[in-house]
Formats: sequence, C-alpha cells, structure tokens
Amino acid sequence: MFVLGLQGSPRTKGNTTVLLSTFLTEAERLGARTQHLDVACKNISPCQECSTCEKNGFCPIDDDMQQIYPLLRQADIIVMATPIFFYGPTAQMKALIDRSQALWARRYVHKLVDPGRKWRRGFLLSMGATKGKNLFEGVSLTAKYFFDAVGASFEGSLTYRKIEGPGEIEDHPTALTDAKEKARAIVTPFLKRKKLLFVCTENACRSQMASAFAQYHAGDKIEVESAGSAPAQEVNPLMEEVMSEKSIDMAFRKPKSMEEATRLVKPDLIISMGCKEACPLFPGVPNQEWSVPDPAGKPIEFMRKIRDQLKERVRRLKHTCNHLL
Ligand SMILES: Cc1cc2nc3c(=O)[nH]c(=O)nc-3n(C[C@H](O)[C@H](O)[C@H](O)COP(=O)(O)O)c2cc1C
Repeated sequence: MFVLGLQGSPRTKGNTTVLLSTFLTEAERLGARTQHLDVACKNISPCQECSTCEKNGFCPIDDDMQQIYPLLRQADIIVMATPIFFYGPTAQMKALIDRSQALWARRYVHKLVDPGRKWRRGFLLSMGATKGKNLFEGVSLTAKYFFDAVGASFEGSLTYRKIEGPGEIEDHPTALTDAKEKARAIVTPFLKRKKLLFVCTENACRSQMASAFAQYHAGDKIEVESAGSAPAQEVNPLMEEVMSEKSIDMAFRKPKSMEEATRLVKPDLIISMGCKEACPLFPGVPNQEWSVPDPAGKPIEFMRKIRDQLKERVRRLKHTCNHLL
C-alpha cells in the first residue's frame, strides 16, 4: 500500500515537515510505502481556468503536476499537510489543489469513476501561530473538497494552534504521538487486506481491466495489483476507451513489472491471462489461469468482448475464491 504525503510549507524543514514525517515514518514502520512530496519545491502553475479539463478530462499545463496526477491515483492514503497562511493552505498547496480540478472534471463532468474511490483515504495535518477559534475552518473546508475531487474519503485532521517558529511542533505535548497514533489507525486496516495480482504480458489491456473491475467491486476488502512479464510503455488507449464506456476511469495508469508490483507484498492469489509460460509465478502462491486472448492490435469490438468476459470472470471470482480473499 502507498501513503502520499503532500507537504505544503515553503519552509521545508519547518513544523509541517516534522509532523508529516512523523506520520509517514510510522506508516513505513508498519509496512507501507511512503512518499514525502515537498509541494513548494515543485513547479506547479495555478489553474488557468481554460476549461480544457472539462472538455477532454486532462490539464494541458505541462509542469510537475503531470507527475502528481498518477501519484494521487496510486495513493491509498493522501495526507495533506500545510501550515495556515491567512486562514487557508499555503499558495503552493492551493495551486496543487486547484489543478486537481482535472480529476474533479473526470468525475463530475465526464462521469467517470476512479476505482480507487472505493478505499482511498484523505487526512489533514495543519498548524498555525495564533489561537483563534476559527483558525482551521478555511483549510478544513478546502481539504474536504480537495479529497472529494481526488477520490478520497476525508478521515479527519490533526490541527495545532500556537505553533510558530521552526521546530516548535516538537515541543508540543501530544502532536508527535498523535500523528503516530493516527498513522497506525489509518494504515493498519489497509495492511490486513489480502493481495490479488493479475498478470499478463504487457500489463496494458487484460490485467489492467481485470484489476480495475476487482478494485471497483472489492478494493476496500482486497488489495489488487496488476503486472506484466514484459510491461509496455503505456496502457492501451483502446482499452481506456472501452473501460470508459462502462464509466471506469483508467487514466494515469502505467504498466508495471512483476518485480515492481510484488516488491513490498507477496500476493495471496495470482491470476494470469493465458501467458503462463511468460509469467514466472511465485512458488507456493495459489494461482489461476484464465486463458483470455490478448486484444492488443485487434478491432475495438474484440476489446469490448474481452472487457465483458473479464468483468464476468471477476464477478464470479468472489464466489470461487472466498477462502483466499
Ligand atoms: C504568509 C504567512 C501567513 C500566515 N498566516 C497565518 C494565519 O493566518 N494564522 C496563523 O495562526 N498563523 C499564520 N502564519 C504562521 C504559520 O502558520 C506558522 O508559523 C506555522 O507554524 C508555520 O509552519 P512551517 O514551519 O511548517 O512553515 C502565517 C505565516 C506566514 C509566513
């Protein structure tokens, strides 16, 4: 599982970093993969309100946000960490949030469902120098709508008043223990999920579709990965198109190698798509062979047929594999 920490302060060794790092270190200790992303060190332009994302579902601004969209989609947990600047998040964090409008448009304008919505969680860490009653009202509302746009349920926040100079958060009586406890509470249920791995040759069509259906139906109960024995550069655009006909959003997915997909967790069940000789299956791990023909390079009707076959097989999987999943 993957925890993405968005650190919004331009003071990269300040209070926000200390609090976020405490959260992420605990998550890692428990077995999660984490990434601490200093938003202020990235080149992220503010939204230009050009409406391109409302027309085609993508943001045309070519900057670091293009690498952040896939991270937002891969993350099981997103931690938005920001100091209060004028009763809201920092401008750097706000630019990232505004650019998530592209993900908002995919959901609310294009009516596409990101399967990750089923389980992704969002959490807010924040602090400010003063002690006003309403200090965190602005940032909490912004976080609530940001998490909705990126397909995460808002799990709450830890907020601290009267924290000003760099490092002051370390002297707070409970902040660091709170962050560790919160990390444990949010991360632990994820680690208990059984892991299902779909494998095909290129991880561009069949294993991508099967994994998306499994995530869509049961991603809150099982961790679903997909991989290829010889991963392609990109997922197949025709595959994306036929999945969008079923309202499933496959954007920002990248083919993965077997090593990448299984680096952290050993699968409990492997399902391969009829390329067994090409897929070095893990000894001792239960596996199934689905013998689904490769739709790559075939007409769109064939891609649709394979999509429907996989959808049905994933639906039946739940009944046949209850003991494993
Ligand atoms: C431009 C700016 C605006 C700020 N606005 C507020 C504010 O509205 N309310 C508040 O309590 N603190 C405000 N602060 C103080 C910071 O929130 C506080 O110092 C925080 O601990 C900084 O966290 P950091 O070390 O992670 O950067 C502001 C600081 C700056 C630089």
